[in-house]
Amino acid sequence: MMKPVVQLDHSQTTPLFLQIYQRLRQAIAEGRLKPGDRVPPMRNLATELNLARGTVEAAYQMLISEGYLLPRGPAGTIVSPQLAHQRPRQLATPAPPIASVQQRPAGALAFQMGMPALDVFPQSIWARLLNRRQREDGIATLTYPDPQGYSALREAIAAYLGVSRGIACTPEQIFICPGYRSALARICRVLMQPKEAWWFEDPGYFHAKDCLLENDANLVPIPVDTGGINIEAAIDQRPDARFALVTPAHQSPLGVSLTLSRRLALLDWANRQQAWVVEDDYDSEYRYVSRPLPALKSLDDGGRVLYIGTFSKVLFPGLRLAYLVLPEAVQERFLIETIRCPHDCPYLLQATLTDFITQGHFSRHLRKMRSLYAQRREYLCQALKEVFGNRLRIDLQAGGMHLLAYLEAGERDKVWADKALMAGLSIQALSSWRQSITGEPGIMLGFTNVSSPEHAQILAERLRFAVQ
Ligand SMILES: Cc1ncc(COP(=O)(O)O)c(C=O)c1O
Repeated sequence: MMKPVVQLDHSQTTPLFLQIYQRLRQAIAEGRLKPGDRVPPMRNLATELNLARGTVEAAYQMLISEGYLLPRGPAGTIVSPQLAHQRPRQLATPAPPIASVQQRPAGALAFQMGMPALDVFPQSIWARLLNRRQREDGIATLTYPDPQGYSALREAIAAYLGVSRGIACTPEQIFICPGYRSALARICRVLMQPKEAWWFEDPGYFHAKDCLLENDANLVPIPVDTGGINIEAAIDQRPDARFALVTPAHQSPLGVSLTLSRRLALLDWANRQQAWVVEDDYDSEYRYVSRPLPALKSLDDGGRVLYIGTFSKVLFPGLRLAYLVLPEAVQERFLIETIRCPHDCPYLLQATLTDFITQGHFSRHLRKMRSLYAQRREYLCQALKEVFGNRLRIDLQAGGMHLLAYLEAGERDKVWADKALMAGLSIQALSSWRQSITGEPGIMLGFTNVSSPEHAQILAERLRFAVQ
């Protein structure tokens, strides 16, 4: 069956693994391979085509990471049944952003930012813990959860924050929320008056911007440079702001860390003004040159920092579990709001996560991801350098989950992002993350799902082809 699907042209300059990838993808798009169909075992296809197994494996890995194929262990690899919900043409030519939100293939899009490595999450451990809780916890799994969050999970998070992020807090200060934006919206509802001013990093995380605007905040864009958000400029511009939203560990999206002197200046301003600092600590665990930096919250003697953590990056975003750590002085106000208007997260997921943390799987997973991501980052860096040479200038930072690469003067990053998307590559344009401050054009590329040097090479080649 496969012979007509995979026929290689050895005279072409296109690498053989890329040809295999393209042929299979084309066959899926044209309906010659249908959702649920088995594709040939890698070894058989390699023998048939007289190639090394690694060559076929690189193509399969890429199709798996893009959601076209689904590995089924000993049962073989099949075309993803999820694709049954898509029309063939959408597979060949990826849909524009709005449609792709609803209809993207399962798994991460190539280069998708902020997505952890989905291929290495220990699903069998997770499933075992979840099943055990479902079996043993009986009624607790069926009723309404504690609106503040499962108490044993809050205890586990408090212990983790003490050890890993230098934050001393009690479980009572922690509020579990279904994702970062829910935590942010909750802060607006409890502490903000309409139109109050927020210092907001420029460039900065667009989902946070949208969420704050939706909640009637007044955003004051503050420039970010190599030392993070410029606190002096912020004080010059709006000393009377009521809030500052910052990403001190790895600024989103530039990846720089907020310097100690700026951290202290920020806290000093907040104490003097009785303003609130919201710390978004979304991916601080991923640092490749040294241990993760302590959180800003660890320096917060005056009780002005509201800390938001999420499990989206350290585990997986489908979990929809984030948390707020509050200063003691506002705990009660949040509790009242939470009881009046709960933001519940399912008990079963919270209980499973508790076991995952307390039984040591969480810290093991993090350790593994740190070294895996360092490796994957290197794969992508090398491939981009090889394929693009001086066309891209990579700005390598100490941590994070994506690469930032600046384009040559005159290039338009939004055009790159649009063209890449048409080729199924989810890169982001730096200028789309800016508000009022203009700067060099650049692109952001997630590297966490780049599984091998060959995969990196394929993706880099595809990007070059897309933007030429
Ligand atoms: C800057 C930043 N903060 C927070 C988050 C976490 O959001 P959530 O908890 O909704 O997945 C993300 C996710 O991409 C992010 O990029």
